Amino acid sequence: MDPFSLRLNLNSGDVKGNNLIVESKTLFDLRYSIQNQKALTKLLKNKKDIEVYTVSTCEPGHTAAHLTIHVTRLKPGKIGEEFFFTKGHIHKKPTAEWYLGISGTGLLLLWNKNKHLVLPFSRGDLIYIPPGWAHRTINVGDEDLVFLSCHRSDAGYDYDFVVEKGAPKRILASDKELF
Ligand SMILES: [Fe+2]
Repeated sequence: MDPFSLRLNLNSGDVKGNNLIVESKTLFDLRYSIQNQKALTKLLKNKKDIEVYTVSTCEPGHTAAHLTIHVTRLKPGKIGEEFFFTKGHIHKKPTAEWYLGISGTGLLLLWNKNKHLVLPFSRGDLIYIPPGWAHRTINVGDEDLVFLSCHRSDAGYDYDFVVEKGAPKRILASDKELF
């Protein structure tokens, strides 16, 4: 494989280049993670669905020798009192990940068997997620929250872990002390 480059606009958060796959997640995709089902029904009234975030992924290979990057764009919004969030996952293989905030105002929720942490996550914040910590991002601002993440390409994703066990903390409009 030859080296290659992508182009990330650090102001807009737009990323361009070959080898990028863009995936979209909607409120429908997040329905099992949403606690306030009444608010969800209300939001989707008269609308087919609402996009919550997109993930642009570059995975040059699938083995431990490679590094995968994602640029995620999480929209602002609330389901009732709860801010829009990413589905969240833990990596199937206990591998670490770096997160870099590019724009917007958010929080990173991190948890393992013993505890959870909520860290401020905005432009310039570089957060190291050690192996074995599940993670979810929350947009608590009025603009898109854009961030880059990088992990070993064979890490794998376990989303069911979060859906089945639930996240340890929901970030609500009333959680002002957190942001
Ligand atoms: Fe991850």
